[in-house]
Amino acid sequence: MLAQSPAFPPHLNEALPSHMADGLVEHGWSQQNIFLSAELTLALAAECRALAASGGLNPASVGRGAAQALRTEIRGDRILWLKAGQSPACDRYLQIMESLRIALNHALYLGLDEYESHFAFYAPGASYQTHLDRFRDDDCRTVSVVIYLNHNWLPGQGGALRLHPQGECAQDIAPLGSRMVLFLSAEMRHEVLPATRDRLSLAGWFRRRPA
Ligand code: OGA
Ligand code: MN
Repeated sequence: MLAQSPAFPPHLNEALPSHMADGLVEHGWSQQNIFLSAELTLALAAECRALAASGGLNPASVGRGAAQALRTEIRGDRILWLKAGQSPACDRYLQIMESLRIALNHALYLGLDEYESHFAFYAPGASYQTHLDRFRDDDCRTVSVVIYLNHNWLPGQGGALRLHPQGECAQDIAPLGSRMVLFLSAEMRHEVLPATRDRLSLAGWFRRRPA
């Protein structure tokens, strides 16, 4: 059923909406509400919840290689990396992100080559302290993406993504279902504030080919 639904989101059929391109270039970030259909958001949320309930998510680590470590006081989410063929909903999502990759390359000549993504589940109280998404020894991650899967998120439930654009005020973005946020991986420091309820998302990175 998902595979037959009309192409979504309609704004990506042709090109990247100009507010997204302008936001990324001028401020290092942009967002799009209702990026995924309600149907696809629900299916992805159900899959993430089922994985959480069955033990299919693993505590996320920080750092890479020899420096990789579990530090739940720094980063408290549990994750699962997506693979093609995992489910119809994930395949549809990966197809949409492929259109976004092409639209970003057309609009901004970023040379984005691949996409990697994981489900993330933050239990109440879990957070992710201020960080950059680009690793010290791997500069391939270029554009970070987060898409939220939370139905009826209310003001007061916390869980904002707090962006720290250089030389500008911090920006708090509530994790509303179907909302997508894009930002430059190498530049944008950001953090996840604790929430009073489960907080579900898909985090991802458009990567350049290694030099
Ligand atoms: C990350 C991250 C932000 C969010 O996974 O690296 O910063 O809002 N996620 O979930
Ligand atoms: Mn991050």
